[in-house]
Amino acid sequence: MLYSIIDALQKSAVCVDGLLKKCDFDYLESTNITGDNQLGVDVEANNIFKEVLLGLDSVKGICSEEEDEAIYKKDSNGMYLVAFDPLDGSSIVSSNLSVGSIFGIYNEDFSAKNLIASGYIIYGPRLEMVIAQDSVNHYIYNNEEWRNIGSLILNDKGKINSPGGTQKNWSTKHKILIESLFLEGYRLRYSGGMVPDLHNLLCKGGGLFSYPSTSDAPNGKLRALFEVFPFAFIFEKAGGEAVGSIGDNLSLCRILDLEIDSIHQSLPCFFGSKYEIDRVKLAHK
Ligand code: F6P
Repeated sequence: MLYSIIDALQKSAVCVDGLLKKCDFDYLESTNITGDNQLGVDVEANNIFKEVLLGLDSVKGICSEEEDEAIYKKDSNGMYLVAFDPLDGSSIVSSNLSVGSIFGIYNEDFSAKNLIASGYIIYGPRLEMVIAQDSVNHYIYNNEEWRNIGSLILNDKGKINSPGGTQKNWSTKHKILIESLFLEGYRLRYSGGMVPDLHNLLCKGGGLFSYPSTSDAPNGKLRALFEVFPFAFIFEKAGGEAVGSIGDNLSLCRILDLEIDSIHQSLPCFFGSKYEIDRVKLAHK
């Protein structure tokens, strides 16, 4: 059953990859519910995933970053719900940087504790996909087929620092943390696309990606259902950790224990190997 969803996502990935190769990256007049300007390709990618997923018997509902509300099928016997960001990082697509699609598959309802699998597709020089269930499997698309090239496992400590958010709006404790990692020898890697930035950490065995609470965005920027929960699940299954906070309570907890009030909610988040997440917990105490 779950296999049918993964198969459908792999087929959709090939369609979206084709779309990116031939589309103009023009903005539409519309914005999505979060207020992001929409590109034509955002809407087309959304339609591809939406149609394919809603066509599966095993899926009882979906929720997309580009849709205001979750969509539930009437009289469905399906077991699964899928939340997705059809095209993450569309602000960097016109510079020809890598972008991605992110998805989380849930039982029962869209709460982090019911997440049973998650993954992402990366549209880069190669088309790749990563799917986390019990382990984190890495696939590449080549000669019209998807091939599993192994699992992604994080070391206890990495060498990369990927700090998101506007630096002038960081808290002093966050500035000190980021600077101290650079002083330890960590190297800066940040493209502005969550998928390529986190994929880089996963492929290189670890490091820290942070998108903290800032003075202009106290709840961070990254969306719980479409970005944060799926990557938290992937990082944990790869042997790393993911912590964040919600609302006014800025004390950090395991992201997959957090409960959200609305499907488009964002939250401050930190993904990394064990060493870096220990450093985050200490710095943000
Ligand atoms: O949510 C969209 C997104 O483009 C993510 O893919 C990325 O990690 C983040 O925004 C970058 O934001 P900023 O430009 O504020 O660092």
